[in-house]
Amino acid sequence: MTARIAPSILSADFARLGEEVQAVVRAGADLVHFDVMDNHYVPNLTIGPLVCEAIRPVCTVPIDVHLMVKPVDPLVPAFAKAGASIISFHPEASEHVDRTIGLIKEAGCKAGLVLNPGTPLTWLDHVLDRLDLVLVMSVNPGFGGQSFIPEALRKLAAVRERIAGRDIWLEVDGGVKIDNIRAIADAGADTFVAGSAIFGTKDYAATIAAMRAELAAAAR
Ligand code: DX5
Ligand code: ZN
Repeated sequence: MTARIAPSILSADFARLGEEVQAVVRAGADLVHFDVMDNHYVPNLTIGPLVCEAIRPVCTVPIDVHLMVKPVDPLVPAFAKAGASIISFHPEASEHVDRTIGLIKEAGCKAGLVLNPGTPLTWLDHVLDRLDLVLVMSVNPGFGGQSFIPEALRKLAAVRERIAGRDIWLEVDGGVKIDNIRAIADAGADTFVAGSAIFGTKDYAATIAAMRAELAAAAR
């Protein structure tokens, strides 16, 4: 399988954000995961389009924007303009899910739908064929450094079954570490967000290499 590692800059040193982005890209990141929180949809406040635009010139891999905001739609063109490659959103935060997907695509980005731990798969009904990515949250959104919720493994397997042969990435976000990434891959994920597990270590390249070694041993 093709496995992608997406370090979440939520756990980076924001005082040196440009260097941190370059460091994880040099260390082998396939994407840079960009967590946008609004202190409304989630109880935390992070970064917006200005910061995305600022890191874009130093980021040689696609920027994977995870919108934890409500409303969603006004930020879609703003992040597309700021250099996002992928824009994912939570269906509960959008009044019209299909319309938001359309806005993301019209803006020239890949579209992802994010399922919280308590969000049912039925949100995928009718829109799955329009999606480029499904993101399964393995923690409740809002903070880095939380523990992986084991039920996410069953959810990933169920989403993988729905994706069947389609060219849709299956991303997982929250509590991904070297010691559980293989089981998560076995459940069906192909794209792995990891914040504290990478930025909390000294040698990003060694951590990403250890994750890849685990992924190489995964069954799928
Ligand atoms: C949580 C964010 C995650 C977070 C993951 O709401 O969406 O992307 O940064 O952090 P870790 O890998 O530390 O759980
Ligand atoms: Zn995220």
